[in-house]
Amino acid sequence: MRAALGLALAGIALAGSAVAEGRMSRTIGKALFERAWVPAPSSTRANDGLGPLFNARACISCHAGLERMPVATDASGKIVSDNLVLRFSDGAGRPDPVYGSQLQTAGVPGVAPEGRLAFDETGPIPLALAHGAPASGTRYGARLAPALRGLGRLEDVPDAVLTALADPADENGDGISGRVGLVRAPDGTQRVGRFGWKASAASLAGMVEAAFSTDLGLSTPGRPAPWGDCGERQPECRAAPHGGSWNEPEITGELVAMIRDYLAAVPPSARAAPADHARSESTFARIGCAACHVPALSSPRGTVEAYTDLLLHDMGEELDGGATEPGVEAREWRTAPLWGLSRILASGAGLLHDGRATTLDGAIRAHGGEGGHARARYLALDHDERERLFAFLSSL
Ligand code: HEC
Ligand code: HEC
Repeated sequence: MRAALGLALAGIALAGSAVAEGRMSRTIGKALFERAWVPAPSSTRANDGLGPLFNARACISCHAGLERMPVATDASGKIVSDNLVLRFSDGAGRPDPVYGSQLQTAGVPGVAPEGRLAFDETGPIPLALAHGAPASGTRYGARLAPALRGLGRLEDVPDAVLTALADPADENGDGISGRVGLVRAPDGTQRVGRFGWKASAASLAGMVEAAFSTDLGLSTPGRPAPWGDCGERQPECRAAPHGGSWNEPEITGELVAMIRDYLAAVPPSARAAPADHARSESTFARIGCAACHVPALSSPRGTVEAYTDLLLHDMGEELDGGATEPGVEAREWRTAPLWGLSRILASGAGLLHDGRATTLDGAIRAHGGEGGHARARYLALDHDERERLFAFLSSL
């Protein structure tokens, strides 16, 4: 793989112009996104190094068509698609000492998968855990793979725009106290997080690196642990063959940048219907949805009509996610962008971070905490007003 990419990169150098370089980089990035990675052979360190633990072999296994997809189950309720993952952490976001931060459902030869996922009446649960119960303080919660469209536009929004929207002490007294999720960049500076359901990555490249490490078990310059998400108390997994070392990650920074460039160029989904829903959009604003789902953010490359403030909000008991990440409460979530909602509804994929809601009504009723006021006003709408609100949401 390295050699083949070396040739491709040499081709870029020959092609010369910056435009051609950009196009070539995105083409390779797309191929890498779709590529099925393979485990490292035990005799050599020269190849990919998938695993030792992983959830899928390719980015595209969970992000098919770059859309949010429904979760597939078999007749007994076991989850058979890869796109719903189970996260573990204690109350402060620290990973489980054995299972790490995510339940990996596959392993290379000689390393047992950590377990499987199934639904019971409480939602997604772990099954067949290979190392027994997690540590006593460990909580778990599921996350659904989102659509990957328009992410470059979200990256365009300057940190200062988001900081200006935040109101952590609720000084304007509207019951909404969104805050920026700060993430430390490799150069030590603090950046405003904006990717992932918990806004825990500040850059698209950072999110790509997190995906390689956690979902595929491949190391990158920003996530150099060659064993990915093997917990500290899983020695056989940490000792299994892998394709890199702390100094020489399995995936180079160049490859990360090419996937980033590919994803950054994917435009947001086009609106399903023209914006002639002025009246229903005014309902959306009047009942307080737009306080978090801010219709447009400004950026140097034009407004970003994503219907989000990209801030973290306490969504109450109703949306306590179990597992969390350092610096973010289990009940806090990034305001979900609503662009592309029509495609999610059409695909039958669930709404909210774990896909638990199957209808717009269900998703809105789950809004607690800072979203509680808007929910109360929604519940007070008459039938026709609600239908107009749904028509507007379905036009996004
Ligand atoms: C096993 C399934 C799975 C695989 C494989 C996977 N992802 Fe994801 N992806 C997810 C889930 C689940 C999330 C949501 C994570 C979160 O918010 O905590 C996500 C989120 C993302 C996001 C953030 C999107 C947003 O709206 O902020 C990006 C970007 C991304 N993935 C890229 C990738 C890339 C690149 C790869 C391959 C290197 C990849 N993913 C492989 C499941 C997967
Ligand atoms: C306090 C901020 C806030 C307010 C007010 C708010 N939302 Fe949300 N909304 C969120 C957050 C945060 C999420 C993500 C929650 C999760 O995934 O668990 C979300 C998720 C959603 C989703 C699911 C999106 C997806 O990608 O699955 C829909 C639909 C939605 N909101 C609609 C509304 C509507 C309609 C209103 C007004 C009645 C509203 N919201 C008011 C913060 C808010």
